[in-house]
Amino acid sequence: MIRLVDVSKIYDGAGARVAALANVSLEVAQREFVALMGPSGCGKSTLLHLVAGVDLPTTGEIWVDGRALARLSDHALSQFRRDRVGIVYQFYNLLPTMSAWENVALPALLAGVPARVARERAEERLRLVGMLHRKDHWPHELSGGEMQRVAIGRALVNEPPVLLADEPTGNLDSKAGREVLELLARLNAERANRRTPL
Ligand SMILES: Nc1ncnc2c1ncn2[C@@H]1O[C@H](COP(=O)(O)OP(=O)(O)OP(=O)(O)O)[C@@H](O)[C@H]1O
Ligand SMILES: [Mg+2]
Repeated sequence: MIRLVDVSKIYDGAGARVAALANVSLEVAQREFVALMGPSGCGKSTLLHLVAGVDLPTTGEIWVDGRALARLSDHALSQFRRDRVGIVYQFYNLLPTMSAWENVALPALLAGVPARVARERAEERLRLVGMLHRKDHWPHELSGGEMQRVAIGRALVNEPPVLLADEPTGNLDSKAGREVLELLARLNAERANRRTPL
């Protein structure tokens, strides 16, 4: 599902050149549940951004879901980002002026799904992450753990085969963090047991 071959990433910023990744090779099979661990600054976020198609490597090849990312046109790459990967961030990144279900529905609407279907899908994803009872809440009316569960629902709304999470428990206390990890593990196990995604 994910294959990195000899991937390097050098940031050539205003001041210094930073070698964020040097010759990284990695394979993740379909249905695998993998944690990347390492000290601050070792390149974890950089690697996730490359796999998500948000940034390109300096050298090396990245394949995700059968696609060589460097060979995709701009249009195909933006479709890839929209439909083939979901991303969950440490600080949730929910839009504050949208309710929980509207946040979840948004990527489906952007993908051209009709409004009624997008709403149904959003509610189904909120049920999946145990947040349907809060569907009309604003983000500021939710706890950190609840916001993260909504963000996971949003990341899954277009049924991506890959879900990436960058320190998804980093802003949560240990109990809420454990619940988010258990949710991710459960979603992975449930999807692994189905023939079709979700
Ligand atoms: N856009 C950028 N321009 C220049 N340097 C960058 C950029 N993004 C990251 N870096 C540098 O690349 C290195 C890797 O950064 P990265 O964010 O991938 O680390 P990380 O493992 O995610 O760290 P943390 O655990 O603190 O989130 C760091 O030295 C960082 O300063
Ligand atoms: Mg990081």
